[in-house]
Amino acid sequence: MPRSLASKLPPGLPYTLRRTVINLLPAASIIATAHFLRAFGDADAPTFLVALVAIASIPVAFAARVAYMNWSLPRRAARMGAVLPPHWDGNSFGNRDILQHVLDKYLKGYPGDGFWDKVDELGHLHSLSIFWDPRYLTTDVNVIKTVLATDFQSFEKGEFFKDTMNTVLGDGVFNADGELWKFHRSMTRPYFSRDRISHFEMFDRHAALKKMKERFRAGHALDFQDLVSCFIMDSVAEFFFGNCVYALKSDLPYAHNDPLAPRVAQQQNAAERFSAAFAAAQYLISMRSRVGWTWRLKELFHDVTKQPMAVVDEYLKPILQEAIRKNRHAIGKDGKAQQGESTEDETLLDHLVKYTDDPTVLHDETLNIMIAGRDTTAATLSFAVYLLCMYPDVFRRLRAEVMDHIGPTQMPTFDDIKSMKYLRAVINETMRLYPVVVAYAVFLMHRRKDYWGPDALYFDPDRFLDERLNKYFVGNPFIFLPFNAGPRICLGQQFAYNEMSFFLIRLMQHFSHMELDLDAQPPKVRPPSDWAGSEGQRGVEKILPRMYLTMYIEGGLWVKMTEAARAT
Ligand code: HEM
Ligand SMILES: *[C@@H]1O[C@H](CO)[C@@H](O)[C@H](O)[C@H]1NC(C)=O
Ligand SMILES: *[C@@H]1O[C@H](CO)[C@@H](O)[C@H](O)[C@H]1NC(C)=O
Repeated sequence: MPRSLASKLPPGLPYTLRRTVINLLPAASIIATAHFLRAFGDADAPTFLVALVAIASIPVAFAARVAYMNWSLPRRAARMGAVLPPHWDGNSFGNRDILQHVLDKYLKGYPGDGFWDKVDELGHLHSLSIFWDPRYLTTDVNVIKTVLATDFQSFEKGEFFKDTMNTVLGDGVFNADGELWKFHRSMTRPYFSRDRISHFEMFDRHAALKKMKERFRAGHALDFQDLVSCFIMDSVAEFFFGNCVYALKSDLPYAHNDPLAPRVAQQQNAAERFSAAFAAAQYLISMRSRVGWTWRLKELFHDVTKQPMAVVDEYLKPILQEAIRKNRHAIGKDGKAQQGESTEDETLLDHLVKYTDDPTVLHDETLNIMIAGRDTTAATLSFAVYLLCMYPDVFRRLRAEVMDHIGPTQMPTFDDIKSMKYLRAVINETMRLYPVVVAYAVFLMHRRKDYWGPDALYFDPDRFLDERLNKYFVGNPFIFLPFNAGPRICLGQQFAYNEMSFFLIRLMQHFSHMELDLDAQPPKVRPPSDWAGSEGQRGVEKILPRMYLTMYIEGGLWVKMTEAARAT
């Protein structure tokens, strides 16, 4: 269906209509046959009987189709010389019990709990069906490598993903397959071939450090995750659009238990409204994918993302129009715009308008890259600061490396960042334990003892520096996939390493001590008591990691920091 038409209908409707027509076919043919016999033959079945058989045929046809699929799948596999992985059988209609179990664990458990209860029994590759819709789950490095890289051609994100995400991601690079994906990727890729490190000075300009210091000096705790999301939002907006959102201009939230907090409710500014609506839309589409195809029934007549996306679009529209106008003006002056080569001070949008002036393509692509680049870096930095608070020895070593390589005040250069091995190891180890994008499969693969050694569940950056690096990682690099792998590997990987390194270095220069303020954390979002005593990081967890489209810290990361004496 063309996008223009599909996007006008509620997202649940086209699929449900199609399914309904298919499921009603047997009933329709029974009624047609009865009519035919009545008109041309001598058989005359009573109307109520025809109606009864027709109605009964609907579930019967559905069950027959499921049984046929179940019967034919192993046979088709056998013809290809393959065997199907073990299946997780539920105990109720449509495996509702499995869905319930997974959702319960999702709300109360650790990432991956629920889906993976059967690993010991069924192995690292198994399947389960929710409402007769089969899914395959794996933490097997060879399977993951096959899907992402060696047999990339045979796999795609597919219709389910696309349909579920479409009202927010549209046709952007994240959501497209095949030629459309290639087009989007080739358009965006040249922009990231350059190291744009000088731009990170925005960190200082955007007042993130100043805001932090003000809060800490006045004796307050601060939600670091909120601060860093605002900062990344501002720098991403400047970097991508040349237009500042100024999320950091508004006041940061105070802790629930803070007696010094001003009691005046804050008005949301346009940037915050955009940010909040954007987050809401992402949350809504992530919940769709969790309940399988049944989300369509809930949205049969109403697209739940419509309202937040209207706020997002209202903010984005003038920015896109201005970029298109500027580009047309530039072409008018000196002929055709140069594609490919991208200049140092160009924004992402300046770059993209050279490829297309279709507002929908530009809209989808910029939003996709904002989703890709914002919450990912903000959440990874939050987990890094969380771990630095929990492990003071790691903090001290990292700070010493910063002082050795750069000193207490200088701006880091690109070469400084490249030479800081411990910093890179801390970032890698953070992403091993908390890979923020890649759902459960990678989260669990990153914690497998047979891949990473007996201490796999513990935080230890040295595993990326000592003999463990060669023993586990070097010969088997696909066990570490925070950025995905193969043709769809993250386009912003270098950008993200540079941005996160820069941010952490400036933090180390300005603060000599950091600690969690556990009382400031909202009481409802503390880790459940039954995690205590578990092996590794889960056993000592002080926060609740949660996963929507990306992973983050539920309720924020409340910290206090001490200013370094000699910083400027
Ligand atoms: C710590 C930060 C980041 C992590 C962990 C991360 C991780 C990932 C992962 C796992 C994917 C594959 C997702 C999928 O195919 O479903 C991905 C794709 C992507 N990332 Fe990142 N990313 C990060 C930061 C960034 C940044 C800063 C940008 C851009 C500014 C970016 C741009 C992209 C794009 C455009 C794609 C889509 C590639 C494609 O489908 O061809 N990422 N990222
Ligand atoms: C499909 O077949 C498997 C055994 O091969 C069985 O365990 C499962 O319950 C069947 N599912 C349905 C929906 O018939
Ligand atoms: C960090 O991980 C990357 C892969 O993302 C790898 O290439 C690099 O060698 C690792 N470096 C360190 C110091 O951990």
